[in-house]
Amino acid sequence: MDWGLQNRLSSIIKPHNNRALMLAVDHGYFLGPTEKLENPKKVIAPLLKYCDSLMVTRGVQRTSVSATTSTPMVLRVSGGSSIIGEDLSQEDITVSIQDALRLNASALAMSIFVGSKYEYQTIVNLGKLVSEAEQYGIPVLAVTAVGKELGKDARYLSLACRVAAEQGAHIVKTYYCDNFEKVVQSCPVPIIVAGGKKIPERDALQLTFNAIKGGAVGVDMGRNIWQSDHSVAMIRAVRSIVHGNSNVDQAFKLYQKLVNEESKKPNNPNQNKSKKPNNPNQNKSKKPNNPNQNKSKKPNNPNQNKSNSI
Ligand code: R5P
Repeated sequence: MDWGLQNRLSSIIKPHNNRALMLAVDHGYFLGPTEKLENPKKVIAPLLKYCDSLMVTRGVQRTSVSATTSTPMVLRVSGGSSIIGEDLSQEDITVSIQDALRLNASALAMSIFVGSKYEYQTIVNLGKLVSEAEQYGIPVLAVTAVGKELGKDARYLSLACRVAAEQGAHIVKTYYCDNFEKVVQSCPVPIIVAGGKKIPERDALQLTFNAIKGGAVGVDMGRNIWQSDHSVAMIRAVRSIVHGNSNVDQAFKLYQKLVNEESKKPNNPNQNKSKKPNNPNQNKSKKPNNPNQNKSKKPNNPNQNKSNSI
């Protein structure tokens, strides 16, 4: 392996313990202003020092990440469809290798949609991207995207991860599943696990622990960190599993301790927020005649829960 590629890879997967904590903030590339990621600059700033690398689009990197950071950037270079479009799997490469170099990317990331209408296009794009990126010593992370119509079990994910690795991906990002060990064992390159939709903090810590126990090098987590009301406490708890070998109880205790400390800080804007006796907006959304109540739960909304399937 070329020195540059090896050097970049080792900034993402730490060589001393073969572990990686990647913070994913690239969701806007097809979801737009995702809940709690409406202002990426504010979200990223306090979390950046706790992750090993940031998974980001070029637009957010340029506008919302300080160029003085020493955190490696894993640059998403694929896109082309949005959550309200017809088919999320219709992606192409949208960022040139020259721009990736200007952005000092430590790795390039793109999605493949194995089993979808556009699998051919995305798999061929992966192969081409690997060929191009390797000329410059840049590793490629392949994201095995899942959708409602695609599977999320060990059989499907093993196939998708192996296809990605066969095309030359240097790291594969996938989802945790039952029999996850099977996915890891049949993939010759390191696997990193996505967090998926927001679940209770303890469950997300359990997922992190299980993924590593199952053979993943770490997590590339987004929503379960920045959609938490205590995102810094959460990333630190996740980190304690990835790099500190904490078990779930230890990590959750750390999370609770940090939340507790946070609530005692004098300028904490969340302190006693819900206890304000005269807050006129309190329970506003629960008004019986609120016309917007449950608006998003329209039975015929075709895109409902679409984002939950990523
Ligand atoms: C999805 O395609 C994006 O690449 C996200 O980076 C990925 O889903 C990981 O984020 P989360 O932990 O929110 O699932």
